[in-house]
Amino acid sequence: MGLCVAPAMMLLLLLGSPSSAGRNRCLDAAEACTEDARCQRLRTEYVAQCLGRAAPGGCPRARCRRALRRFFARGPPALTHALLFCPCANAACAERRRQTFVPACAFSGPGPAPSCLAPLDACEHSRICRPRLLAFQASCAPAPSAPDGCLLDEAPRCLRAYAGLVGTAVTPNYVDNASARVAPWCDCGASGNRREECEAFRGLFTRNRCLDGAIQAFDGGWPPILQDQLHVHQDPEHSLVQVSSTDGLLVGSSLLSMLPVLAHQPLL
Ligand SMILES: *[C@@H]1O[C@H](CO)[C@@H](O)[C@H](O)[C@H]1NC(C)=O
Repeated sequence: MGLCVAPAMMLLLLLGSPSSAGRNRCLDAAEACTEDARCQRLRTEYVAQCLGRAAPGGCPRARCRRALRRFFARGPPALTHALLFCPCANAACAERRRQTFVPACAFSGPGPAPSCLAPLDACEHSRICRPRLLAFQASCAPAPSAPDGCLLDEAPRCLRAYAGLVGTAVTPNYVDNASARVAPWCDCGASGNRREECEAFRGLFTRNRCLDGAIQAFDGGWPPILQDQLHVHQDPEHSLVQVSSTDGLLVGSSLLSMLPVLAHQPLL
């Protein structure tokens, strides 16, 4: 019995812990992508690239990032944005969100985080990155004319611009699974006499109430196409009850019913 429960519990963790906070919307978003041929194909491509091997201990980051840019440029925005901005009420969901685009290759590197001046300089010299960073600055910047400092109408444009940065030299990601805070993988510790410039750049992500607001507001913009997913994961407790209160046979069958979900795991 013990041997059967362990993998089942692991699956439940992957599925998102059952809680009153409800279902795992990042999982819903992942499944919606799986069911859409184009989303699924583009995601499979970037996952394959991002999990590839380059030098020992490394990964083909340039190819991984290129495939990610293609995912966001060509995938259905309703689905790609749902994957990127799925609202979370628990750590399992937020961890999945953080892992969505294979951050070990696309986002962080081996070794300590570099100064933010490195990705900033790289971006300013890149014809792909530079216009995207400018667009992000323009559409996510606080607007002095608005009452709360942010134009709510701008939120969708801000999120599109943010998504446009994924796969560039300044690829941002969620910093942990306990918040919706985002940042590129860098800090301003060793930025010398360019400290202010460094902090200003990093602050575009870490101290930007318009970006935070836009990500929060995505909740309301949850694509109708995903409402169909609601019934699928309504009640994770069901599987928990089965697993913990029955013998190996039933455990086996509840595991089987989860296999399609397990099959998606490597893609996320
Ligand atoms: C959340 O992140 C922490 C720190 O990285 C990690 O130890 C923990 O396992 C994560 N939680 C989930 C549910 O993945």
